Amino acid sequence: MELANIDWGSLGFGFMPTDYNVRCNYSNGKWGELEVHAEATMPMHISAAVLHYAQECFEGLKAFRGEDGKVRVFRIVENAKRMQSSCRGVCMPEFPIEKFEEAVLKVVRLNARFIPPYETGASLYIRPVLFGTTPLVGVKPASEYTFVVFVTPVGPYFKGGFQTTPFMLSRKYDRAAPLGTGNLKVGGNYAAGMRATVDSHDMGYSAVFYIDPKEKKYIDECGAANFFAIKGNSYITPKSDSILPSITNMSLRQIAEDLGMTVERRQIPIAELAEFDEAGACGTAAVISPIDKIVDVDENHTFQISKDGKPGKWCTKLYETLRGIQYGKVEDKHNWCTIVEF
Ligand code: PLP
Ligand code: COI
Repeated sequence: MELANIDWGSLGFGFMPTDYNVRCNYSNGKWGELEVHAEATMPMHISAAVLHYAQECFEGLKAFRGEDGKVRVFRIVENAKRMQSSCRGVCMPEFPIEKFEEAVLKVVRLNARFIPPYETGASLYIRPVLFGTTPLVGVKPASEYTFVVFVTPVGPYFKGGFQTTPFMLSRKYDRAAPLGTGNLKVGGNYAAGMRATVDSHDMGYSAVFYIDPKEKKYIDECGAANFFAIKGNSYITPKSDSILPSITNMSLRQIAEDLGMTVERRQIPIAELAEFDEAGACGTAAVISPIDKIVDVDENHTFQISKDGKPGKWCTKLYETLRGIQYGKVEDKHNWCTIVEF
């Protein structure tokens, strides 16, 4: 199979058209059959539930072409389960796990020529999205839904890939409420964080740190990624009901344990940022983005995390192990990858 003619090495994190997407519709109380579509657009009623009341959720996962030529998709079932949890949270019908797996593998196979070559470090981003299509004006759940999964080849989410960048922190923005939807992957959370994200970019930072919305004391997460820090031999990451349960973070906690580190999942007071040896933002898109410094823009105070401007030894080890598993270079002892059969 001939690969698409793309300058893989210079890919950023954006949308590029590919050949096919896979869809499934829900009506009369049940999901239909998977459909393959070549067009990337769809007609939608101007009063569709998703357009007015943001009744939707999405996922993000990746496929990797390994050094051995095999294509691996990372943690499909975990993404399927999280999509079900998001569906429950905003009153949408759950998409069955087996159907999710089937749709993901189908869309990857159909777009195989867009899976970046191993050497480039790029990957195929897989974006499932599920939304209410019923025309309505009153606020209530839709009765019809569409699930779509499309793919697009991507490079690094944060400029420069695996290198330290500056982040900011402010108590002036919340992306989620204490008992709100912060732990779901629903579009409304991203609309709620848009102002903060744009402001942080305008100020020269990679992303903004959200503080817990209830007490305004503890670190929640940063932009579209979870936060972790290293202190001595410990991997420390926030425990909070208002953050997204990151599948990358879940995997890194296991890898940290496998590497002999202690894993702490607990509240992290803002002041503790001064005590960390290393820190990173982690997520499917972000992978691990090592943090140079975190500037508290409200207090005009800088927490300098990296001492030499380079990713630290544990961030590097965690990154290499995670990438190694995804690209088939490190043993996948927890069975996280699904090898795509062609
Ligand atoms: N937090 C938010 C708000 C996100 O959007 C993401 C991206 O999916 C993450 C964390 C990281 O989650 P995951 O590792 O499952 O991609
Ligand atoms: C991801 O990491 O998969 C995300 O969804 C982050 C962002 C692009 C929304």
